[in-house]
Amino acid sequence: MPSRLSNKPRRPTSDTAHGARLSKASRHPSVERLESVLSSRSQTEHLGHVIGSSLTGGEVLALTGALGAGKTALVRGIAAGLDLPPESVSSPTFVLAHEYEGRVPLVHIDLYRLHTAAEAESIGLDDYLAGSAVVAIEWADRFPGWLPADRLEVQLTHRSPATRNALVLAQGPRSSALLTRIIRAWQAVRRAPIAREPARPDRRKASAR
Ligand SMILES: Nc1ncnc2c1ncn2[C@@H]1O[C@H](COP(=O)(O)OP(=O)(O)OP(=O)(O)O)[C@@H](O)[C@H]1O
Ligand SMILES: [Mg+2]
Repeated sequence: MPSRLSNKPRRPTSDTAHGARLSKASRHPSVERLESVLSSRSQTEHLGHVIGSSLTGGEVLALTGALGAGKTALVRGIAAGLDLPPESVSSPTFVLAHEYEGRVPLVHIDLYRLHTAAEAESIGLDDYLAGSAVVAIEWADRFPGWLPADRLEVQLTHRSPATRNALVLAQGPRSSALLTRIIRAWQAVRRAPIAREPARPDRRKASAR
């Protein structure tokens, strides 16, 4: 079965350059940022879950990153955070936009295959952006001019074949408040394994008996 990745031609530009272009587009760059190493797909989904759990509806999530950077994996986690089954999320390769009814509506868009503003218009991008659904856009940097000023940017980059780096930035006041909630929740998640450490001595005692 041909994979999605093999269907796409390699693009000459790096995801880092795309991301930088998006961030520079704003006159009000966020002060806060979340930067995290994600060493597995489940960690990418976990970050998505934290983002999804923090959403209230109407937010725009601009996702950037090279082919296979983990954008769809992140959206699966976002879906889970909106009380949707993560496996219901598939890459909107040909349909270009998928709509889901979660705790709040989620629209998942992939702009990779769009080349003109007219094509973006044809999928109703403007209407989605003006609505009350959460709109998660893969390859958001293809049409930076279409993005609202207030948006959360998630830039995913390959650190190694098995590891990704996530950089989350907020553009605009609403997204800044959202990012503050996400950072708090993500820090709590990252601290969680350390908090479970004291369980180990008990297990050793039990096996010594
Ligand atoms: N943090 C991670 N570490 C290792 N592998 C990951 C990580 N996150 C995602 N992956 C894996 O990378 C592959 C590509 O993920 P995904 O399809 O989400 O990327 P994508 O950015 O949506 O790609 P595309 O540009 O084709 O839409 C998948 O096999 C996924 O499991
Ligand atoms: Mg994808």
